[in-house]
Amino acid sequence: MKEKINFDFDKRTWHPSPLAGQIVLVTTLNPDGVSNIAPKSWISMMAFKPPILALGCNLRHWTARNILVNSEFVVNIPGGELAETIWQCHRLPHPRPVEAAGLTPLPATKVKPPRVDECKAHMECLLDQHITYGDEVILLAQIVAVSVDKEIGNAADVYERMHMLFFLETATYGVIERSRHL
Ligand SMILES: Cc1cc2nc3c(=O)[nH]c(=O)nc-3n(C[C@H](O)[C@H](O)[C@H](O)COP(=O)(O)O)c2cc1C
Repeated sequence: MKEKINFDFDKRTWHPSPLAGQIVLVTTLNPDGVSNIAPKSWISMMAFKPPILALGCNLRHWTARNILVNSEFVVNIPGGELAETIWQCHRLPHPRPVEAAGLTPLPATKVKPPRVDECKAHMECLLDQHITYGDEVILLAQIVAVSVDKEIGNAADVYERMHMLFFLETATYGVIERSRHL
């Protein structure tokens, strides 16, 4: 039998972190109609029908506040080439429109917050319900539109082109560079 190390419950101390979270850029609209962009990694699909995803967010963040006010957001899927932009983005002061991160807003199809042109796929979402735990909130939202770059959707090596990145621990991420098909 292998020996095991016991970790405590503070995720920030986990090394290695046994759970990787996909890094996404979430866009919302501030009450004055200006966009807000922030990286998030506590995100996953939760149900097929209706298509529900869960996003974990600090309640003080503009992302959570905007979604709780107007219910709409877009989950934009960046590739590994945006890693430095993503880490710079989360330190930018507010208001923090998409352009402040050096990125390009692209109108969404079903919701008011914009997609991010430099990202490869986008999920437009409407808040369904939320659950709070202390300072944090789990936002359960229905996906109302999904889009992907045409040149990726038509390619054979879609995952190599998506180059999706995952949060591992502070300042550390992983990238899917190769997919295998069983
Ligand atoms: C790679 C990465 C992943 C992050 N994931 C989350 C997350 O899942 N939830 C969260 O509340 N904050 C997360 N953060 C921190 C927020 O992005 C950061 O505090 C940001 O400034 C919040 O912006 P907002 O107030 O506009 O939402 C993450 C930061 C980085 C760099």
